[in-house]
Amino acid sequence: MAESPANAVSPVPPPKPRLPPGRVPRHIAIIMDGNGRWAETRGRPRYEGHAYGARSVRKIVTAAREAGVEALTLYAFSVQNWERPDVEVERLMELLLDYLVSERETILKNGIRLQGIGQVERLPPKVLRQLRFLESESADNNGMVLTLALSYGSREEIVDACRSIARDVAAGRLVPEDITEAVVDRYTFTHGLPALDLLIRTSGELRLSNFLLWQSAYTEIVVTEVLWPDFDEPEFFRCIETFRSRERRFGKTSGQVASEV
Ligand code: FPP
Repeated sequence: MAESPANAVSPVPPPKPRLPPGRVPRHIAIIMDGNGRWAETRGRPRYEGHAYGARSVRKIVTAAREAGVEALTLYAFSVQNWERPDVEVERLMELLLDYLVSERETILKNGIRLQGIGQVERLPPKVLRQLRFLESESADNNGMVLTLALSYGSREEIVDACRSIARDVAAGRLVPEDITEAVVDRYTFTHGLPALDLLIRTSGELRLSNFLLWQSAYTEIVVTEVLWPDFDEPEFFRCIETFRSRERRFGKTSGQVASEV
């Protein structure tokens, strides 16, 4: 007799990947690379790689939140990406808008505070509107800060910071002798976030690509060969385990670090 849906055994869902207990980086940033290659090796248009990449974004935001990461910063679109073919830029903007609309509930429900950094005023008006809307709706959340780097460039950020500092000096609000690392940091987009502990880059490329140059001075960098659309929770947790295996010395000796512990 054929099994009826009523007495059919429901399939057991695969166990949820878990991060083994241990130190969790407070702030993780990701260069989500390899979408184009992922699509091209399948004979598909590049934007399909970005669409699958957006699925990885959803998975990793949830995994980071559940693991207790305080800040997750994703390189979603660089200043230089505006030079890509129009069709690719348009698709990326559509995906971004779709993400901001469709993830609104999940972001709010999970206490995530979302913010955009970069030259966001260059985004199409409807994307910028939705970004501002979600930024203000989530402003009081204190679960995890999700930062989307959009139309972002680190050199551009540093140039902007220099201009603002120069303006404040010219206006008498700041004296050059008072400019310290902490002061410069206040002029960056990431001010207020914990120091960047871990930077992950997918797709095996060994470059920073104009991402968080000031912030990554003492960041641990983990590069995985996995292309971003294939990047999943187990791979994310492997990157965190690699981070855990590193000794962070901040310019000191191994002996000094050991005695501090
Ligand atoms: C780099 O891969 C990736 C990008 C330029 C865009 C990243 C966008 C997403 C992951 C999806 C949309 C974002 C959100 C937040 C929903 P590449 O195109 O340079 O890949 P390639 O090096 O293989 O060509």
